[in-house]
Amino acid sequence: MIFRALPSGQRVATDRWAYGRHFTVVAQSPIWLGTFPTFLGTPLRADIMARLFLTHGLLTAHLWNMDILHITRPAPLSGLDDIPLPSRDAPRAQALVARCPVAKVTPLEASVAIATQAGVQDVWIKDERGRMGLGSFKALGAAYVIACDAQDIDVSGRTYVTASAGNHGMSVAAGAKAFGAASVVYIAQTVPQSFASRLEEQGAQVVREGETYEDSLKAAEKAADDNGWDLLSDGSWHGYTERPYRLMEGYTVLMAEAIEQLPEMPTHIFLQAGVGGLACACAALARQTWSDTPRIIVVEPHAAAALHGSIAAGKAVESSGPVSDMGRLDCKMPSLIALKGLAQDADDFALITEAEGQAGAGLAMVAGFGSSPSGAAGIAALIALDDAQRDDLGITAQSRIFCVLSEGPA
Ligand SMILES: Cc1ncc(COP(=O)(O)O)c(C=O)c1O
Repeated sequence: MIFRALPSGQRVATDRWAYGRHFTVVAQSPIWLGTFPTFLGTPLRADIMARLFLTHGLLTAHLWNMDILHITRPAPLSGLDDIPLPSRDAPRAQALVARCPVAKVTPLEASVAIATQAGVQDVWIKDERGRMGLGSFKALGAAYVIACDAQDIDVSGRTYVTASAGNHGMSVAAGAKAFGAASVVYIAQTVPQSFASRLEEQGAQVVREGETYEDSLKAAEKAADDNGWDLLSDGSWHGYTERPYRLMEGYTVLMAEAIEQLPEMPTHIFLQAGVGGLACACAALARQTWSDTPRIIVVEPHAAAALHGSIAAGKAVESSGPVSDMGRLDCKMPSLIALKGLAQDADDFALITEAEGQAGAGLAMVAGFGSSPSGAAGIAALIALDDAQRDDLGITAQSRIFCVLSEGPA
């Protein structure tokens, strides 16, 4: 432990303990904390107090910091025999998306600042903030499904209904509008009003229902049944796979573009997940292109360990947890297609804390990639790694990292 005195008279204690983390404690007095607090009548010294805080920090770090589950692929899962593996047909999706008048390849940027902070050679970021003017990669999903429908039938009399934490709803609304259909989007009370307004600007009818994404999904399903509307969910479950399968095919466009843009094969790929569609589509294409080599790490909030929990349980399970600030990733149930795909394509399932999510968004902002804790969660996991975790994942100063910046600032 190292002590330094500050000009203010405070003392700073720093230590580097087993988990490779630095803990810093500022004590209020150079030597003594005063006569209080005391231990059995003896005044406690600042350095002793600092050590107590550090021990507490160490325990807290152990209990609450990023947790990574490593699997040997494929992870065994039961109960998914009727669930398809994800589509790898990026050419089909690219051909149709290219016909959209606002479609444009999004940039792949190298960030020296993030690479330096992470202690790696390169960090390449697929920047999805400008995707089709909708602010996120989700533009590639639901709108693509509606475009596929419109190739077969006239959809102008249809109403598409969905539940969304924001971005998926935007894609449903924009796709419906483009093809003359109507859209209804159920959102939870926790979704920011700014998202509700943006959905309405796209022509959607917005309905607030429940406290969580799952509540709003139940309401959307009921509305579909009651009114004969078309449910267009980004999640998949037993008996509901056709649309989400097609939707995830749309996401392959971003990975196909990235594969063209990357100067070299990445050694590691960090992919944030809500229901898992984005991560699954990207991982499927990465494996198709580079086989076993890149290490693929799926990143979720501790508060919503849908994929992590299901992989650990060997079957799809609903996770429990508080509401996460990483709202777009706050899904307690995985998409079953994504779960099945990631069990064969991903190597690791990481859970980041809310503080780590904020730190990732903060660094991304400073590096010129203004986003949200959801949009920068892959970056957050990369910079949250401690030395032992870096070793476990084989991350070194020579590593080349690929991340997706999945949305702009909320
Ligand atoms: C910005 C952003 N990033 C990541 C995700 C996670 O995607 P998925 O739910 O397909 O795992 C979402 C989902 O809404 C999102 O909006």
